[in-house]
Amino acid sequence: MADAAPTAPADFAARIREGYAAEGAVVGLGRGVLDGTTHPDAVVQIPAAMCNRHGLIAGATGTGKTVSLQVMAEQLSAIGVPVFAADMKGDLSGLAAPAVPNDRLTGRATELGITWTPAACPVTFLSLGGVGPGVPVRAPVTAFGPELLAKVLGSNETQRSSLALVFRYADEHGLPLLDLTDLRDLLHYLTGDEGKADLKAIGGVSTATAGVLLRSISELEGQGGDAFFGEPEFAVTDLLRTEGDKGVISCLELPAVQTEPKLFSTFLMWMLAELFETLPEVGDLAQPKLVFFFDEAHLLFEDASDEFLDQVAQTVRLIRSKGVGVFFVTQLPDDVPDVVLAQLGNRVQHALRAHTPRDAKALKAAVSTYPTTEDYDLEKALTELGTGEAIVTILSEKGAPTPVVWTKMLPPSSFLGALDPAVVKAAGEASPLWPTYSVEIDRESATELLAAKMGVPAPTTTATAPGAEGAPKPKPTVKTGSKKAKKKPDTSPVTDYLKSREGRSMLNTIARGVFSMLKK
Ligand SMILES: Nc1ncnc2c1ncn2[C@@H]1O[C@H](COP(=O)(O)OP(=O)(O)O)[C@@H](O)[C@H]1O
Ligand SMILES: [Mg+2]
Repeated sequence: MADAAPTAPADFAARIREGYAAEGAVVGLGRGVLDGTTHPDAVVQIPAAMCNRHGLIAGATGTGKTVSLQVMAEQLSAIGVPVFAADMKGDLSGLAAPAVPNDRLTGRATELGITWTPAACPVTFLSLGGVGPGVPVRAPVTAFGPELLAKVLGSNETQRSSLALVFRYADEHGLPLLDLTDLRDLLHYLTGDEGKADLKAIGGVSTATAGVLLRSISELEGQGGDAFFGEPEFAVTDLLRTEGDKGVISCLELPAVQTEPKLFSTFLMWMLAELFETLPEVGDLAQPKLVFFFDEAHLLFEDASDEFLDQVAQTVRLIRSKGVGVFFVTQLPDDVPDVVLAQLGNRVQHALRAHTPRDAKALKAAVSTYPTTEDYDLEKALTELGTGEAIVTILSEKGAPTPVVWTKMLPPSSFLGALDPAVVKAAGEASPLWPTYSVEIDRESATELLAAKMGVPAPTTTATAPGAEGAPKPKPTVKTGSKKAKKKPDTSPVTDYLKSREGRSMLNTIARGVFSMLKK
């Protein structure tokens, strides 16, 4: 007790409390633990103003990542900050219902010295293109842009740049690409007899590459990818809602599309890029406009090109001044590339395993990114953390890293686990967003315009005008005939469309491209 060095265990609670103190609103995380003892005075929290410095929630499966996300979402909502979270397994749906008290939850509350009251949060459930319960979120292919689409298609560099040229061609020729059928029909056209000359004029797109793109698009359609492309386009500003003085938590329910990781992870990136494009510059706010949790983040970075990574890194860096905080959730911290990792100021690191050489390497790497601490042997601590415990360091209100602290995380006030799918479905349909997005609209687009150009009826089914040269080929998979009941293929000329508000905004989108604008 006598001469208290700055890191002496005796003043642990006071040091932590001071290190994590904040003047403004806060997002509570938990209480500090030293030598196996939880200190109710060692309050660990993130100043709301620092949430736009982004963060990482990492840890092996079952260590408490999702519950940490849930706890943070609850608190952000409580202070009026809207939250977006990708709900991979459906277990975040519990946010919409109050916790059911049990010994483990109340025991944890007692150990942390907190008053714990079960409470539900205002939640809007979203789904990708209406697959599964929740308000359908869709984007037209054009708004998605060639960069992100290439990522979904697993394209190489040549294919990616070809795709960009095809998008530009569509733009210049007033051919709206709304769904995958539009894009496929355009590629068919360009590789067919009628479009040959045009393809040549584009320059840089070989017939072979166009063929590869066609095949990968058909594959994506075969996997159900077409559901997500179309209109109405989801307005990302609909994520910035409040209910009374609480922030609405938008949960994108992904269990139904778990098998399509490339698609949904890229879709999340699209949302982030859209937010970046849409929101005004605001600098640092007292609390963020939105906090975006990017679950299963490794899926976004796997097999990503350097250019794609650069763009992700740049979006993450710049979106901060738009008042958006991004938290990546993943198993191993080195799933996130260094350029992105370096920008994540707030760290909640749950237990890591050290079974394989890969694990051991990731563990060492994780330790090396932490400020030094004399309270713990970090390498050991990271493998010994209990469920719902994490090694934490964040940015203080002054922007300096806080002391590293073993943290016992707060118990959630909302329900732990997934809600009944029927309840989620009913909640989705009761959302104020439901009337806007529930019904897909299908306007005239490239498919009809190209069909008209080639003098064949628009392919409303898999049927193709027999013998028509360059006509869209019969579609190879079940999913692909689904140009969903195109209305009025012969009316509403392109010019009308382009003069319309949607048409103009569509052209803007093409011109900007979700990502291309980021390239200086
Ligand atoms: N902060 C917490 N409070 C209470 N229980 C927790 C907490 N964190 C984790 N748990 C328990 O651990 C289980 C696994 O946590 P979860 O967040 O689903 O792990 P992960 O997402 O890392 O796979 C939860 O279902 C819950 O029972
Ligand atoms: Mg989880």
